[in-house]
Amino acid sequence: MDLFAQTQRYQQSGDFEQALTGYQDLLAADQDNPQLSYLVALLFFENGKLGEAARWFTRVVSLAPEAAPAHYNLGVIFFEQGDYSRAAQAYEEAARLCPEDGDIFFNLALTRKKLGQFDKAFSCYQKVLAITPDAEDVLYNLGVLCKDLHHHADSIWFFEKVVEKNPDHAQALNNLGYLYHMEREVDKAIAIYRQLVVLDHNACMASHMLAALTGTTTAAAPDAYIRAVFDSFSEHYDESLVEKLGYTTPAQLRELLAGRDSRRFPATLDMGCGTGLSGEAFEGLTEKLIGLDLSPGMLEVAGKKRLYDSLHETDICSFLRASRISFDLFIAADVFVYIGDLNEIFTLVKERAAEGGIFLFSTELADQGFRLQPMGRYGHAESYIRGLARESGFSVIKVVAANIRKEKEEWITGNLYMLRA
Ligand SMILES: C[S@@+](CC[C@H](N)C(=O)[O-])C[C@H]1O[C@@H](n2cnc3c(N)ncnc32)[C@H](O)[C@@H]1O
Repeated sequence: MDLFAQTQRYQQSGDFEQALTGYQDLLAADQDNPQLSYLVALLFFENGKLGEAARWFTRVVSLAPEAAPAHYNLGVIFFEQGDYSRAAQAYEEAARLCPEDGDIFFNLALTRKKLGQFDKAFSCYQKVLAITPDAEDVLYNLGVLCKDLHHHADSIWFFEKVVEKNPDHAQALNNLGYLYHMEREVDKAIAIYRQLVVLDHNACMASHMLAALTGTTTAAAPDAYIRAVFDSFSEHYDESLVEKLGYTTPAQLRELLAGRDSRRFPATLDMGCGTGLSGEAFEGLTEKLIGLDLSPGMLEVAGKKRLYDSLHETDICSFLRASRISFDLFIAADVFVYIGDLNEIFTLVKERAAEGGIFLFSTELADQGFRLQPMGRYGHAESYIRGLARESGFSVIKVVAANIRKEKEEWITGNLYMLRA
């Protein structure tokens, strides 16, 4: 058997070292052979040695600039390495050489999106669709792209196309449910959430939203739903809530306290601390600050701010039941919108509160009792909160109306409470 056939055999059987030696021997006799260089590049690529593979693919394109697969593989490697500008250049070159290859445009679209070049990403996906009009993954990605750009009508159009082709496409249904819900197309949203419950896909979210849209008030949003929502949101939470939605509840709660109580607190518990915005707002006001939250993603962001003495991944009631610490200040900023029935929390907070301990929190509004509202959050009537405060042994020191955050450019109003144990 000749050396080339033997080397290929080594490569096919996964013997990297022998295959490399074989190619090196072959290249010694013919060092500018682009095909041989391409095979060496592939050998490195298949064995996960991306740096070496990139070096060899680059050599191939310098020897044979029209070698489209080498450009394409360079694109794949640079993308993998997070070098999206060079990945885009490589895919562009491959696309120029193979204008009918949908895979190249698909990868180029993903790369353009990573670069924040959404219009270019859009036209790349359009090119793939022109080549393969039925490509489900392209229609789906176009839906996601439009959703990210808040072009809801276009996004719905693409997801509907996906579902036409594949009625059980769980991710497309999930996005459609969300979009119809946001667009207040209640009947359509309900139909999709019902389908998701049957498919058992993201069913905790779907059943919570079904309850919200059909006027059924449950005791609290499911923990798994809370975790999924906030884990996916954690990276952009601060920017999105504070900068875009005008959220200042932690600072407003601190102001409420500033007018009433000037003590420095020995121990504070931030319940549903999220990314630590209350930690920032209450900095300097407490000796010891403990945070808890259901979402590991939110806690990770909070941890990086180095404001908390400890952070705990848990739900509020479990923490309070297990804790032996007596706290002087409790904060729950924009958390009770995810919990309807606050009875147990009030009882447990009172049990863990030091004499005269302060309990600060915000709520959205309801006519009476507590109510799960159509957008999936709970509102609480002031009379309900006052009743709970009385039953669990708190005095209501202050209640003020507040703008909590914007939704579709309108303020959502609520109440801020300061109670004393
Ligand atoms: C809207 S964010 C508010 C975060 C933070 N307090 C702030 O003001 O930015 C609500 C947070 O409450 C958490 N959360 C909701 N229900 C919870 C529960 N039962 N126990 C613990 N954390 C909860 C969520 O994971 C989320 O991080």
